[in-house]
Amino acid sequence: METGIHDNEILIDHFMNSRNLGKIEDADGIGMAGDPSCGDYVKVYIKVDKVHLTDIKYEVFGCPSAVATASVFSELVKGKSIVEAQLIDNHDIVEALHGLPEQKLHCSCMAVEAFDKAVIDWVMKSIANSKEEFESLGLPF
Ligand code: FES
Repeated sequence: METGIHDNEILIDHFMNSRNLGKIEDADGIGMAGDPSCGDYVKVYIKVDKVHLTDIKYEVFGCPSAVATASVFSELVKGKSIVEAQLIDNHDIVEALHGLPEQKLHCSCMAVEAFDKAVIDWVMKSIANSKEEFESLGLPF
């Protein structure tokens, strides 16, 4: 199903009242993705408790579709396990919005890509922390 962005009430609501917008100062992972074709970007911050995504926030510079899709994505993944959250893609975002015009589909990819990078950042930091813990105990890593 395809709708225009001006008659999509869900999209307008997420643009005007964006959920989870902002920054997490002590984030466990941070990822950023941009679209070179328009210069827009999304920066995602995550908090992870063991394997659950306890919080997600984002900063976004972009068109209304970029803002709304980042907002929808944050609602779709928050509270899920990291594995479950990584299964959510831009098609799920478009479905949650009840459609997005063809020429705006690329806007929905940035939040997903930025989130994937935040997860990689969290994994790398977790490995580094484990290594430090092992070394502080005099154990081989
Ligand atoms: S036009 Fe750049 S993200 Fe939508």
